[in-house]
Amino acid sequence: MDRMYRLTRHIYDLTRKPYLLGRDRMIGALEVPPGGSVLEMGCGTGRNLVAVGRRHPDALLHGFDISGEMLKTAHRNVERSGLDIRLAEGDACFFDPEATFGVASFDRVYFSYTLSMIPDWTAALAHGLSLVKDGGRLSVVDFGFCEGLGAPIRSLLHGWLSLFHVAPRVALETEMARLAQMSGRTLHFERPARGYAQLGSIL
Ligand SMILES: C[S@@+](CC[C@H](N)C(=O)[O-])C[C@H]1O[C@@H](n2cnc3c(N)ncnc32)[C@H](O)[C@@H]1O
Repeated sequence: MDRMYRLTRHIYDLTRKPYLLGRDRMIGALEVPPGGSVLEMGCGTGRNLVAVGRRHPDALLHGFDISGEMLKTAHRNVERSGLDIRLAEGDACFFDPEATFGVASFDRVYFSYTLSMIPDWTAALAHGLSLVKDGGRLSVVDFGFCEGLGAPIRSLLHGWLSLFHVAPRVALETEMARLAQMSGRTLHFERPARGYAQLGSIL
């Protein structure tokens, strides 16, 4: 991961803005409670955490990423933002926020275009849900299956994404529904932009 991001992290936010669709929609729907705690799993450059912090200045913000290179940019962005955001290095399948931040569970936990890069994404998703407080929420935004865009566009896009080790998770809704049912929670799921993106929340 560090090899991939060592150089691209410098232009990451500028180049990803047009095609990581739905991130601001997910952030806008987070409804962080006053003084609530937030964790981003795979926070990359910290772009989303800064956006959450601007919307919810009293939120307690935390993020981690497996790439130390990405975290260098995240630290720089957080410093520039003037917000108090705690960052750490870790793997979404195992990350222990209590050991790292002294916080065991959060009001809001989210994945933004991260599950499509994690080989054992179902383990990461289940781990994310285990870090949500009772009454909290797990949100996901990621690439979809582009069902409304037609087969040629879909294979072009998916072929290009595979060069970056990104694989849209076709079973995301099924897996989130299974986790929601097992934990006695409710799933909201949508596929905006003709299925280009998938947005799910377990409440
Ligand atoms: C496409 S970027 C998205 C970054 C950010 N979430 C955003 O929306 O801008 C995917 C991020 O997931 C991180 N990542 C990949 N596998 C991970 C894992 N197993 N645990 C934590 N982070 C991971 C990568 O290092 C990268 O920063």
